[in-house]
Amino acid sequence: MKNSYIIIAALAVAACAPKAPLGLKDVLGDKFLVGTALNEQQIRHQDPKADSIVALHFNAIVPENCMKHAELHPKEDEYNFELADKFVEYGEAAGLTMTGHCLVWHSQTGRWMFFDDKGELASPELLKQRMKDHITTVMTRYKGKLKGWDVVNEAIMEDGSYRKSLYYQILGEEFIPWAFQCAHEADPDAELYYNDYGMNLEGRRNGVVRLIRQLKERGLRIDAVGMQGHMGMDYPTVDEFRASMDAFIAEGVDVMITEWDMSANPTETQSADVGETQRLRMSMWTVAPEEREAIRQELLARLCPYSDGLPEDVSAEWNARMRAFTDLFIEYADHITRVTAWGITDATSWKNGFVVPGGTDYPLLFDREYNAKPFVNQLIEDYK
Ligand code: G3I
Repeated sequence: MKNSYIIIAALAVAACAPKAPLGLKDVLGDKFLVGTALNEQQIRHQDPKADSIVALHFNAIVPENCMKHAELHPKEDEYNFELADKFVEYGEAAGLTMTGHCLVWHSQTGRWMFFDDKGELASPELLKQRMKDHITTVMTRYKGKLKGWDVVNEAIMEDGSYRKSLYYQILGEEFIPWAFQCAHEADPDAELYYNDYGMNLEGRRNGVVRLIRQLKERGLRIDAVGMQGHMGMDYPTVDEFRASMDAFIAEGVDVMITEWDMSANPTETQSADVGETQRLRMSMWTVAPEEREAIRQELLARLCPYSDGLPEDVSAEWNARMRAFTDLFIEYADHITRVTAWGITDATSWKNGFVVPGGTDYPLLFDREYNAKPFVNQLIEDYK
């Protein structure tokens, strides 16, 4: 009799105890991995509020920059794994699923890769050997620790043609199958992905479908296509994003949303190529200094008009679009294995200053005060 009173009392206490808050991973984790990119400060645990958000909301992480070619391998005979090792330590300590980003990319790659000791363009054989060395060294170091890798990033243009990168100029189309072959040989258990932005565009969609078929026809492993998901207020439409997911799934691969963010600013470009900013900066440098600032101010007023905060109506529209895409991802949960935001709070997003130097944006799931955006809270309420 006494025990039953104790049990009843314990249950009563438990019922009144404040419930642990639910995070995105609690309500969506049975559908797909819920991830975020981590920047250097976050990897080094120098952003404790970000640590708390990761612990509550995410079960997967990807390095925003520290595993890129130029960061890891600045010179042919020099590797720098310090921050990448800390990223892996972060993920292992927190039991998070980790993805490597990225092995082969036209950007952020040491130029030494593409030139021989005479300063001539590297031969195909030399570049293939260097690719194999990089991929093998990096993947071997983290073998068994990372679930998968963005093997090749952003190799297909909006019209479906190959980006005329130095990889392409030296090896032609072959650099992509070669990268996937080297990656599989380096770690046969790792998942391998092709990753790109603007995947809603029909030309790129068709180019990526061709690429998937080519890899599969050669018996090469490709587990998923990474649709980066860098969005704006008027692109992509849910339907064109859906059409691309259908096209990739029809080729027998999974889909991942790998770099999700949504600019709240007026659209200037659908590109996520950071070279856009450089080109804009260069165009500004071609004018007299006194004109430069005037141009920047004009661009800011036109393309980044919300420096003092996001108007309520724009915020409401942004949250509605983010929920519409989340509902699409949930609808495709059988084929989507991961949804990763490209950063934690608006304050540290690459979108700040992307198109116009000094521009402010509001693209991520948490605001500058580390508060969850309304659509996040509503999602947790609806799916708890
Ligand atoms: O770490 C250095 C710092 O020491 C130095 O003082 C500073 C001076 O500019 O630069 C810092 O490096 C910057 C790095 O971000 C870390 O902040 C690089 O200049 C800058 O180019 C780099 O930008 C990254 C960009 O890729 C290029 O690698 C963005 O953070 C990152 O969000 C962006 O992410 C890409 C994906 O990898 C691929 N898909 C598109 C996406 C957006 O462009």
